[in-house]
Amino acid sequence: MMNMTQPIKHRSWAEPYKIKMVELLQMTTREQRERAIKEAGYNTFLLKSEDVYIDLLTDSGTSAMSDRQWAGMMLGDEAYAGSKNFYHMENVIQNYYGYKHVIPTHQGRGAENIISKVMIKPGDIIPGNMYFTTTRLHQELAGGTFKDIIIDEAHDPDNLFPFKGNCDLGKLEDVIKKYGADKVPYVCIATSVNMAGGQPISIENLKAVRALCDKYGIKIIHDMTRVAENAFFIKQREAGYANKSVAEIVKEICSYTDGATMSAKKDALVNIGGFLATNDDHVYEEASNLIVVYEGLHTYGGMAGRDMEALAIGIVESVDDNHISARIGQVEYLGQKLIDMGVPIVQPIGGHGIFLNAKKFLPHIPQTSYPAQTLAAELYIDSGVRTMERGIVSAGRNKETGENYLPELELVRLTIPRRVYTQAHMDVVAESVEAVYLERDKIKGLEMIFEPKYLRFFMAKFEKLK
Ligand code: F0G
Repeated sequence: MMNMTQPIKHRSWAEPYKIKMVELLQMTTREQRERAIKEAGYNTFLLKSEDVYIDLLTDSGTSAMSDRQWAGMMLGDEAYAGSKNFYHMENVIQNYYGYKHVIPTHQGRGAENIISKVMIKPGDIIPGNMYFTTTRLHQELAGGTFKDIIIDEAHDPDNLFPFKGNCDLGKLEDVIKKYGADKVPYVCIATSVNMAGGQPISIENLKAVRALCDKYGIKIIHDMTRVAENAFFIKQREAGYANKSVAEIVKEICSYTDGATMSAKKDALVNIGGFLATNDDHVYEEASNLIVVYEGLHTYGGMAGRDMEALAIGIVESVDDNHISARIGQVEYLGQKLIDMGVPIVQPIGGHGIFLNAKKFLPHIPQTSYPAQTLAAELYIDSGVRTMERGIVSAGRNKETGENYLPELELVRLTIPRRVYTQAHMDVVAESVEAVYLERDKIKGLEMIFEPKYLRFFMAKFEKLK
């Protein structure tokens, strides 16, 4: 016999769960969808959910809870004060993330409001690794100004750098020197940077940011909405982490930061909820004062007891290696299909969704005619798949000049809810994107006919250009 090394066969991932209950979906005709999207002002946020077939608008609050989480819902202690579910949740957050103080909020932006009010003074500067819509707005409403310090690679959809969520330390230090360290209350570090396409930050970069912040006495606040997905990419890509568990990496990430805001509706596998965490006693005291004004008592902060119980269980499930590898495996499956079809998407493939590069998909539509908004509407018309614009509409206007931001990234996000859709759904989505891609020359842009003052992407209305 010849002494040959056998090639290692690729082994597939599969979901580490089976389906116990299903939700029936509505199928619609193309005519119905054309009417529905017109009535919605060509804004997928304004569609009725029952008119949607596969809903990839967001991964926020759209996860399927496990049987254990549903069982936990029955253990809700709906006391106004000191619910036992709060103490369970607090204990899990302290153990899994390592933060000292925990305050529940109704969702992520509740925590952003409180942390901004507590830590930002008018005139302050908040550097961050790319903006997020609600995070930046709360910083601005507190009188601060956001400064983008993400690496340049993050703004290039085709750059294959494995950690496009990294901070540019030169940019960060320039901001600190220009405005003075006393004007920078904290650096806002997101894990799995949403607007960059779900791109991770490396531990190496995070440690360097920590060292720089220590040099100037500046705190780090962690937007940990998708921290487990970031940790999985570190395990896959960063030297020295292959044999660590996602849970260990998550805890290490948190250890380089001073506090966090969390939208538990994403990674943590619940339909509603969030929290603010801090290691700083003074920040905790101030935040507790404000939480009773804006959210609720500090032991429920806008969450029902049952929801805190589901969250406590969801956090533990979210850092399980098998869960996260299937979750990211599914996103990769869809992304690879689209790459094979020649469709321009942001690469590397991110954690929570696939981001179509609308500038390349519809090069004949200028950014001021909303190519990503247009593409999201066309995908819905083709198949009933609902996606979200992440481009010029989401970016909004400069708060000082009133000018539209013109972001480099003009994207359509196909966000994958956790534990909800099957591989066959992903096939249908890919085929729909391909069908629209093949007809792309015929697509015309949009004109905005209604623009809300804040976070305009949620409720803006459009008309088709003739
Ligand atoms: N930070 C990040 C990175 C987010 O993605 C979100 C929400 C928030 C904060 C705010 O949290 O919605 O619970 O108030 N992102 C959703 C999305 C809306 O679709 O990406 P929230």
